[in-house]
Order: sequence, then C-alpha cells, then structure tokens
Amino acid sequence: MRVNYINLKKENLQLANKLKKKLILISKKSEFIGGEELEKFEKRFASFIGTKYAVGVSSGTSALYLSLKCINVDKNSEVITVGNSWTSTVGAIILAGAKPRLVDVDKTLNIDIKKLEKKITSKTKAIIPVHLTGNPANMKKLSRLAKKKKIKIIEDAAQAVGAKIGKKKVGSFGDFGCFSFHPLKNLSALGDGGIITTNNKKYYHWLKTARNVGHFNRDNCKFWSFNMRLDNLQAGFLNEKLKKINKINDDRNINAKLYINNLNKKYIKLPEIEKNNYCVFHLFIIRVKERDRLIKYLNKKNIEVKIHYPIPIHKLRSSKKIFSKIILKNTEKYSKEILSLPINQNLKPEQILWVCKQINNFYEEKK
Ligand SMILES: Cc1ncc(COP(=O)(O)O)c(C=O)c1O
Repeated sequence: MRVNYINLKKENLQLANKLKKKLILISKKSEFIGGEELEKFEKRFASFIGTKYAVGVSSGTSALYLSLKCINVDKNSEVITVGNSWTSTVGAIILAGAKPRLVDVDKTLNIDIKKLEKKITSKTKAIIPVHLTGNPANMKKLSRLAKKKKIKIIEDAAQAVGAKIGKKKVGSFGDFGCFSFHPLKNLSALGDGGIITTNNKKYYHWLKTARNVGHFNRDNCKFWSFNMRLDNLQAGFLNEKLKKINKINDDRNINAKLYINNLNKKYIKLPEIEKNNYCVFHLFIIRVKERDRLIKYLNKKNIEVKIHYPIPIHKLRSSKKIFSKIILKNTEKYSKEILSLPINQNLKPEQILWVCKQINNFYEEKK
C-alpha cells in the first residue's frame, strides 16, 4: 500500500467544476485584483472566525509583517515568539524592523507561558503565539498576561483555520489573527494567499491601505508600502473552499483519532491537546526515538512522512548573527524527535491503520 503525505490533486479536482465556474465568472467581469469575490470572502471569513473585520493579503508572511507594521514596531521594539515554527514567524519580525526574542516551547510544541513571562521587558511590544499544527496555544493565560503588561498579541494562526478553544476560534483572541492559504493548508488557495482578522476598526483601515502600496484610493497614497493584496480570483476560489472547511477539519480529526487509538504509546509520544480545545490537525506530529531510522523504514514501505521543522529557526543559516548564543532546550531536543505523519482528509482509514502498524512493528521488531 502506498501512503502519500499530501493529495492536492484529489483535493482540488473534487471541486473542479465549481472552481472552473468561478474562473469563467471572474474572467467575464475581468475583476482580477480587487472585486466582489474578495469583499465577500473577507466578510465571510471574519464571520467564520468571529471578528468584526478581515483583510485579505498575499500570504501568511505578509499577514504577520503587516500586523507588526500596523502597531509601529521599530528597532527599539522587542517581539516575543517561538523558535519552533516556520521561518516566516521570525522573518516577519526582522523585516518589520523589530528585535525577535525567542522563547522555548513546552510539550504541546507551543509557547511555554512560564518561560515567556521571564522574557517580557519594558521594550516588549508584541507576542506572536503560534498555533502550531492547528493546536491552539494557551490564549487564555496569554491574553491575561498581555493585558496586564499592555502588550499586543498577533496570533500566528497560519496552520489553524477553524481551531477553537471552547467555542471561540483562534484568530479572535489577539489584536490580530494571521492566516495562510498556501496550497498545503487546510483552507487552501490555488497559489499563495493569506488574511488578517481583527476587531479594531483603525487597524482594519490601515491594513487595507498598507496592503495596497499605501494607496487609499486610485490616485493618492498615504504612506509607502508593498503590494501585498489577495487577488479577487483566489478569493473566488476561497469562497468555494470555505464552505468545505468544517468537513475538512472534522475529517482530519477522524484521522487523528485513528492514529491516537492505534499507535503504541509505549514507543510514541502523541500530540498534547488540551481537553477543551479543538485542534484542526494541519499536521499530526509525533515524537519518537530513532526518528531517522524510522523514516527510512517507513519510506521503504512506501509511506511518506515529513519533519516540521528539522532546523529550529534560531539554528537556520540566516539566524547566525542574531541568535548565536541562544539555547532553547525543548525546541532543540524535539527537533530531533518530531515526525509528521500523513493526515490529509483524503486518506482512507486503512491507510492510517497501515501506517500505525508499520510504526508499531518498527519498535516491536527492535525489541
Ligand atoms: C506557522 C506558520 N507561520 C507563517 C506561515 C507563512 O505563511 P505563507 O506561506 O502563506 O507565507 C506559515 C506557512 O507555511 C506557517 O506554517
């Protein structure tokens, strides 16, 4: 049996007719940049997350960058986040002109709130918690802390469209929620895309201008900025795909449950999800011993797996000058143990069970 990590072809061809119709409709109107689809999508997305506003942008990276610029970070500002994330989380801080301060993660793979408190200084302007894999970070404690210290929260919800704490969706806790529609995400465009959610009207208007090279209308510009727009065509596709997101997230949860019930806990550390949380399992990350040997073993059995992420951000080549002295104990330890198993919604139960069997066999055979 073959188990591929992703199945984008199936995911998009299932919707081929609807996506084709959108393409024809938008082509007829020739609204490729701004337009009706984008406005509709922003309203629908804000309502889906539970915020007043949403601003479509060109990627999750742009969402993080623009949110940071919106609160005027500069070289005297510190922004706290984790080293256990995709590069963009830290890259956006550096590009926005602020100083990143990295905190370790706990066994949930998300920000360790106790360690975070010690990193807050009078220069801390914002915290970027990452809801890694679609597993919500501890937003209740974080929100309390940020309020007390008057620090902004920018949620990196790139992997977490639809994830919830109780009934409240991530992206609605902080001052900003930043989402990605990269083709591999649970809610995906047919290319790059992203969105920022917020309840703040002033931020909303600033973000709309900032994504549009600083132009507030066709002919006049308020400040210099980049072109970071989400185009109308992608928004059209996303309007169709948004209808399916709850089902996609639920199907991923069904797959996760199969893993949780069938992987041998004697050998494998499973994802740690708080009881009251709904994780959307953009990734299903386990922690194991002898990870690299296991990968080879699984590959031989035609099972494709990944590592998110093999090099923590502070160890990347681009980080050399900024983070040469920092030690993040768990982040570094986990980077050698983590393994992402196939979790996409188009997998069949027998494929998941096959993966479980092979992993369990690997450790049993060794005994
Ligand atoms: C945690 C996290 N933050 C930020 C991003 C950046 O999103 P994008 O690829 O859309 O720029 C990603 C996407 O890979 C991500 O996983």
